[in-house]
Amino acid sequence: MTDPAHAARYESMPNDLQPFWMPFTANRHYKSNPRMLVSAEGMHYTTVDGRKLLDGAAGMWCVNAGHNRKPITEAISAQAARMSYSPPFQMGHPGAFELAARLVNILPGDLDHAFFTNSGSESVDTALKIALAYHRLRGEGTRTRLIGRERGYHGVGFGGISVGGIANNRKHFGTMLPGVDHLPHTHNLEKNAFSRGQPAWGAHLADELERLVALHDASTIAAVIVEPMAGSTGVLIPPQGYLERLRQICDKHGILLIMDEVITGFGRLGASFAAEYFGVVPDLMTTAKGLSNGAVPMGAVFARKPIYDAFMEGPEHVIELFHGYTYSAHPLACAASHAVLDIYQDEGLFERAAALAPYWEESLHGLKGAPHVIDIRNLGLVAGIELEPIEGQPTARGFDAFLKCYDKGLLVRTTGDIIALSPPLIIEKNQIDQIAETIHDVLKAAA
Ligand SMILES: Cc1ncc(COP(=O)(O)O)c(C=O)c1O
Repeated sequence: MTDPAHAARYESMPNDLQPFWMPFTANRHYKSNPRMLVSAEGMHYTTVDGRKLLDGAAGMWCVNAGHNRKPITEAISAQAARMSYSPPFQMGHPGAFELAARLVNILPGDLDHAFFTNSGSESVDTALKIALAYHRLRGEGTRTRLIGRERGYHGVGFGGISVGGIANNRKHFGTMLPGVDHLPHTHNLEKNAFSRGQPAWGAHLADELERLVALHDASTIAAVIVEPMAGSTGVLIPPQGYLERLRQICDKHGILLIMDEVITGFGRLGASFAAEYFGVVPDLMTTAKGLSNGAVPMGAVFARKPIYDAFMEGPEHVIELFHGYTYSAHPLACAASHAVLDIYQDEGLFERAAALAPYWEESLHGLKGAPHVIDIRNLGLVAGIELEPIEGQPTARGFDAFLKCYDKGLLVRTTGDIIALSPPLIIEKNQIDQIAETIHDVLKAAA
């Protein structure tokens, strides 16, 4: 790009980093040592100093089809030229209806209706609200309690942090939603360290839901929300049989099961959704990220037919659900998502992820024995590498590994002392090797 104004705004180091309050970032550390990305293509970002960075994180679990795919950018730009905004309340545009129809076609069971949002957090709040309203409409308005899980991540809205289970995301923000309880998390290094795929131990932890039912009574519980595979807390793979058991207990007590598939949706595990992968169909499913490849913010909640039908009662001119966003089903997001779904389908990316998963597993488990590695977990094209915390300085080792990987041309994500990996599904085997080798070198050098 030769235009100097454009170059100054998008391609060079900004003069002043202070005004931007960065999200989930150590602002002062970043601003004294910025990591600035200026372009991206395929599996790589380019930094402001012209270095290539292999993307081991699909941006942030979202760029499943790889960066700057031409059909996606062309679809967005064509839609921007045609109609860049249309109101979603009491009005519609064809792309939204076409997209909902395409999406429910690839969903398992009778998840037949899509409600569009702009993010995972909004999807979560939407699903929780639908669950509460659904019970009320059916005359079970006493079902107001929501059950989440320790270490769960469901975004940053008040609903999401209330059912979420990561202390740092909760402790500063008051009392949150009342009437929320939590299942125990499923992480256990003693029993499950270095499991490949789903760990054998832990299905019984789902029975804790029976304990919560006994404590609160089923008539007060609206929904249980879990990530089928917990991502942001540092990759916790569900034990064999765990999700099945949760589904059974929810059915037994008339409790809705919400699966938060913001990370697992759209091929991450080598299937369209975790619901398909595990053969467990939720009543409501929350998605975002891979839905639009991160190209335009977008989320969606999918609801089973009986839930949608319960709302379609009463006078026809009356709004059935008093909920929605100015940018629900935004035309640019819908255009992006259509193009993304084309790529997923034409390039068979979900199948590709499944085919690469054994190679991925083998490569990452090759890090067993590297300095400070106390667990390696994997499923589909996801892996978590847990490092032993430095005594008295939790998260320091993880953050150091993140910075050193960046210096060596690899983008990873870390949560505390866990390295989380989730590359775009277009990754090649030699790039998988590069990820494993870089992490190995970084851990060895830091030992
Ligand atoms: C399972 C899950 N739910 C919700 C969210 C929140 O999504 P967003 O950051 O788009 O609001 C995330 C984000 O990582 C997530 O992993």
